[in-house]
Amino acid sequence: MPQTAVRTSSPSRQTIGDAAFETIARCLQEETGIVLSEAKKGLAVSRLSRRLRVLGLSDFDAYCDILSGPSAVPEIQEMILLLTTNVTRFFREPHHFESLRSRILPGLIAKAKVGGRVRIWSAGCSSGEEAYSIAMTMLEVFPEAASSNIRILATDIDRNVIRIGQKARYKLSEEDFSEHAILSKYTTKVEGADHQFDVVASAKSMVQFGQLNLMDPWPMQGKFDIVFCRNVVIYFSTETQQRLWPRFANIIVDGGHLMIGHSERVTGPATEILRSTGVTHYELKSRGAIQ
Ligand SMILES: C[S@@+](CC[C@H](N)C(=O)[O-])C[C@H]1O[C@@H](n2cnc3c(N)ncnc32)[C@H](O)[C@@H]1O
Repeated sequence: MPQTAVRTSSPSRQTIGDAAFETIARCLQEETGIVLSEAKKGLAVSRLSRRLRVLGLSDFDAYCDILSGPSAVPEIQEMILLLTTNVTRFFREPHHFESLRSRILPGLIAKAKVGGRVRIWSAGCSSGEEAYSIAMTMLEVFPEAASSNIRILATDIDRNVIRIGQKARYKLSEEDFSEHAILSKYTTKVEGADHQFDVVASAKSMVQFGQLNLMDPWPMQGKFDIVFCRNVVIYFSTETQQRLWPRFANIIVDGGHLMIGHSERVTGPATEILRSTGVTHYELKSRGAIQ
């Protein structure tokens, strides 16, 4: 039996009926690919309850009316901001940065030194820590990286996290610095602000942020030497993932790389050309568009 939605003073005590939850989940999946499973119901309710209060709505059925009404487009965008999971940190899954430094960068730096173009994409970048970790790794082995033709594109569906990335100011703890000593070289302390650090200008200048829904057409011209798409597709269905892998394969240069999250795997037809060469690290074997 669907539960009856009631207005309460505590957002966490708001309840949702089955039909309303299905509408919200369908809407989210159609727009972003993100699957909102039954297990995430409580999380969704607590994140959206505040939105209901802002809009002065008494229940989720009224919210669903908005999602199918004239204000659907902007409201769906608001809903996406509330339902995405943006957890990230500097040098997360450090083995990718070690592979970058020791296996991939020597070739890319040689290319950049003779004026070649090097492009890296952090797809689903959240607040930018991943993109800046790439930039710092680059600068560490090639201090001229910022003045070479090397650029990192960082995109996410969520405009709020993009703004954080563009600002490049982060809260860092002693633990962050002891775990990743490189951070002290590429961040500067913000005077008068506890634990706040700015990414240095050279690393900041290498990263360009943009809002992009991976489900939409990709406007980028030119291919990427490396794509980092980590801990993003884990929220998508297998079908959605298998539609994405060939799109990544088609936007990576021959011999280029795809890094994915620790619990993600490339599956389906794209495995013919995206060959696993390390832990959640794939290399594009040969060109040829696949569907
Ligand atoms: C858990 S974070 C991962 C951040 C970073 N890649 C990492 O591994 O630390 C997942 C990010 O994917 C973004 N995302 C989810 N669905 C997306 C979509 N359809 N298009 C673009 N970004 C999406 C979310 O907004 C979120 O910032």
